[in-house]
Amino acid sequence: MKKKIAVADLSLGMFVGDVFNSANELLISANTMIVSERQIDKFQKTGFTHVIIDTERGIDVKKAPMGLEPLELPVQKVIAIEPSDETKRERDYFQELNKAKVVHRQAILIVKHFYRDIRFAKVLDPRPLLVAVDEMMSSIFRNADALPSLIRIKDVTEYVFNHSVNVSILSIALGKALGYKKESIFEVGLGALLQDCGMMRMPESLMNKKGIYSKAERKLVEKHPIRSVEIIKNIREVPTNCLVIAEQHHERWNGRGYPHHLKGNEIHAYSLIASIADVYDAITSAREYRPARTPQSGLATIFKGSNIDFSREYVQLLTKIIGVYPVGSFVKLNDNSMGIVTQVDKGKLLHPRVLILFNSRGDKLDKPYEIDTSEKLWGTNTYLKSISGSLNPEAFNTEVNKYLEESHGLFQQLSPA
Ligand SMILES: [Fe+2]
Repeated sequence: MKKKIAVADLSLGMFVGDVFNSANELLISANTMIVSERQIDKFQKTGFTHVIIDTERGIDVKKAPMGLEPLELPVQKVIAIEPSDETKRERDYFQELNKAKVVHRQAILIVKHFYRDIRFAKVLDPRPLLVAVDEMMSSIFRNADALPSLIRIKDVTEYVFNHSVNVSILSIALGKALGYKKESIFEVGLGALLQDCGMMRMPESLMNKKGIYSKAERKLVEKHPIRSVEIIKNIREVPTNCLVIAEQHHERWNGRGYPHHLKGNEIHAYSLIASIADVYDAITSAREYRPARTPQSGLATIFKGSNIDFSREYVQLLTKIIGVYPVGSFVKLNDNSMGIVTQVDKGKLLHPRVLILFNSRGDKLDKPYEIDTSEKLWGTNTYLKSISGSLNPEAFNTEVNKYLEESHGLFQQLSPA
């Protein structure tokens, strides 16, 4: 049976599923057994207030906590990420990562060629795009973490193509987590991949603009969803359901988006998904005129937009997919060393792998090394190292992407043949 209890009532032996903040917003699916007091401390310090415990997988509350009766929950709308054998999961991640890197690169190249064909008014061949979406879906179905972890690696000079592919990856992951059937996930992925193709019909001065748009330029740019629809509707192979994503991906939950100022559920579910994926990837990408925000900061921005800019349901889902310390977060450990999160296992969201770049004294290491913060002192339930908080990598002159690319290289060597 599942019960919602206050974090203060957690005790050893309980199995924690979903975790909530004081606004009763779903933050993560921890899916973990409480085996140490430090874990409880961590839940409290991270600002979590309520959790769902599963009394079939762990112990029950001894008595009903004051003012909060254990609650039998209805089936959650948001589909929880399934816990699985951690060793198998890690092996699957490494095995998929190499394939995912190829899928990611190929998709970027395919989009680049397709967008160029639009730009130069050539005859459009959508077949490579269909293959790219199919490959991205297959990768995410083989392993849900590998391909999404690559969206952190971005090339600032090729922003438009990278961004389109990343939005598609996140949209596919969201569609899968929502339990959509494959046909629908394909439509979401393809629509998200093509949503900005209308930008290729904009004046070159706008496309290559390095700074922020003027009022007149913005007005023109806001026509790109309609331009995208004009292009896509003439491509027979693209399902008509993809059109709605192109048309509505800049609409906002409160009606302040464009082009039609639609509100709430007037916006198609596909477009609600694509708009969150679009904004998350945009704010976590560096542009010529501003630096990238950290994944955590990006997630916090999206979270603030719940039921203002975005559907709360899908915001919660994105939080589940990205995690508490997403890949690419720059974090401080309890011994004051600092590093970058390189891999997150969904069963261990608070204990990812970290590439240590700075030692406890703050000295930058010549040879960074990787640790697994889920490792415990032998024979005890005490973690060897744990994360104490997130930091802005730019304050430490740290290029996260460079290290992530290198650490993925390391993964490649470790990965079984
Ligand atoms: Fe757009």
